[in-house]
Amino acid sequence: MSRVRICPSILSFPPDNYAAALSQLHEAGSDWIHLDVMDGQFVPPITFGAELARAAVQAGPSPVEAHLMTLTPERHFDAFIAAGCRRIIFHAEAAPHSHRLCQQLRAAGIEAGVAINPGTPVEALRPLLAVMDLALIMTVNPGWGGQALIEECLDKAAKLRALAPDLAIQVDGGIDGSSARRAWEAGATDLVSGSWLTKAGVREGIAAMRQACA
Ligand code: DX5
Ligand code: ZN
Repeated sequence: MSRVRICPSILSFPPDNYAAALSQLHEAGSDWIHLDVMDGQFVPPITFGAELARAAVQAGPSPVEAHLMTLTPERHFDAFIAAGCRRIIFHAEAAPHSHRLCQQLRAAGIEAGVAINPGTPVEALRPLLAVMDLALIMTVNPGWGGQALIEECLDKAAKLRALAPDLAIQVDGGIDGSSARRAWEAGATDLVSGSWLTKAGVREGIAAMRQACA
């Protein structure tokens, strides 16, 4: 198994100074910078748009991914691609035409990620395995940072790993220095972490997660 990838989420950093947080995440060697885009419809909160993605891309070398917790995610593809995102992750629950949207992202040269909520079975991803680059297994119910990990969702990562030995599998929500190991052992390759990193320290937290999965 290759090295774990750490994808810090900006959501739990102070919104009055995202620029400082973005620089910190780039300097700490994040593998991906994870932007949690919420539209107030798919999930109750509203966060930020493609302008922040542009700022994240311009702040340093780490690639930026947009996690679209939005209805009609395809309406946002062009803006986040133009902003410089290298991966767009949309929710299967918000996209009747998820197969076509994956094709659309790949045709634009962007990695296609598909997310599923805790209540959505892994089987929903089976028809997409040939057209997606990453599966995001939500390990909390989407909408907020700082929630407790839903342990059973790690079993979904293991189930997906059995279906797709080579697929990038990301877990997102409630991942910290101790659950990182369990997620890695379940088959996750990409770990999103937000609130825990704000407490542990970005550089220290990323190092601890890498160490936990070594
Ligand atoms: C939740 C977001 C997650 C969240 C992770 O809807 O998709 O990315 O920000 O934050 P923590 O690590 O604090 O659960
Ligand atoms: Zn997320």
